[in-house]
Amino acid sequence: MDVYDAVVSRRSIRRFQQKPVSLDILKKCVNAARLAPSAANLQPLEFFIVNKKELCKKFFQTLGWAGYIKPKWTPNEDESPVAYILILVKKTDKNLWYIRDASIAAANIVLVSENYNIGSCIMLKFDKEKVKEILKIPDEYIVDSVIALGYKSEVSVVEDLTESVKYWRDDKQVMHIPKRKFEDIVHINNF
Ligand SMILES: Cc1cc2nc3c(=O)[nH]c(=O)nc-3n(C[C@H](O)[C@H](O)[C@H](O)COP(=O)(O)O)c2cc1C
Repeated sequence: MDVYDAVVSRRSIRRFQQKPVSLDILKKCVNAARLAPSAANLQPLEFFIVNKKELCKKFFQTLGWAGYIKPKWTPNEDESPVAYILILVKKTDKNLWYIRDASIAAANIVLVSENYNIGSCIMLKFDKEKVKEILKIPDEYIVDSVIALGYKSEVSVVEDLTESVKYWRDDKQVMHIPKRKFEDIVHINNF
C-alpha cells in the first residue's frame, strides 16, 4: 500500500473479526515503532505485544471506548481486539520527550497495521494499574498508550467538520469522523 493511501484511509477501528493477527505482522508493527524518530535519539520506549486469548480477554475489561458515543458503548466480546501493542517507558530522567516519541511510534504502528488491512485504535483511556497487574509490568515502567488491533469489522468514514468534533454512528453502524477542512487549517505563504 502506498504510504499516502495508508495515512488517508486509516481510521480508528473499534470492532474486530476474531481472526488472529500473525505474530510476524505484530513484530513488523513494533519494528516500525522501534525505528521511529526519537528526540535526541534517546529511544526511551519499550513495547509489549499481547496476543494470548486469555490475556486479551482480561485486558479488554480495562479499556475505555469511544467516549463520544452515547449511551456508553463498548465492543461486544465477540468483536473485541485480538491483539494489543503497549508503548512503555521506564521512569528515568532520560525520557524528557517520551510523549512525542510515543506518539510517533504509535503512528508507525497504526500505519504498518493499515498496510496489512488490520484495524487499529490508539488508546489512552485504560486502567493503568490494572493493566500493569494483568501483564506483570514492573512498577518502574509507565504504560503510555495501548494500540488495539485486529481485522476490521466496522466501517468508518471521514466527513467535513461543521459544528461538532464528536464522531457519531449512523443507523447502519457506520462511524462518521468529522475532520477540519483542509482550507480552514492550511496557510500557504500567507496567513
Ligand atoms: C492520543 C490518542 C488517544 C486516544 N484514546 C482513545 C481511547 O482511549 N478510546 C478510544 O475509543 N479512542 C481513542 N482514540 C481514537 C480517537 O478517538 C480517534 O483518533 C479520533 O476520533 C479520530 O478518528 P480517526 O482515528 O478514525 O481519524 C485516541 C486517539 C489518540 C490519537
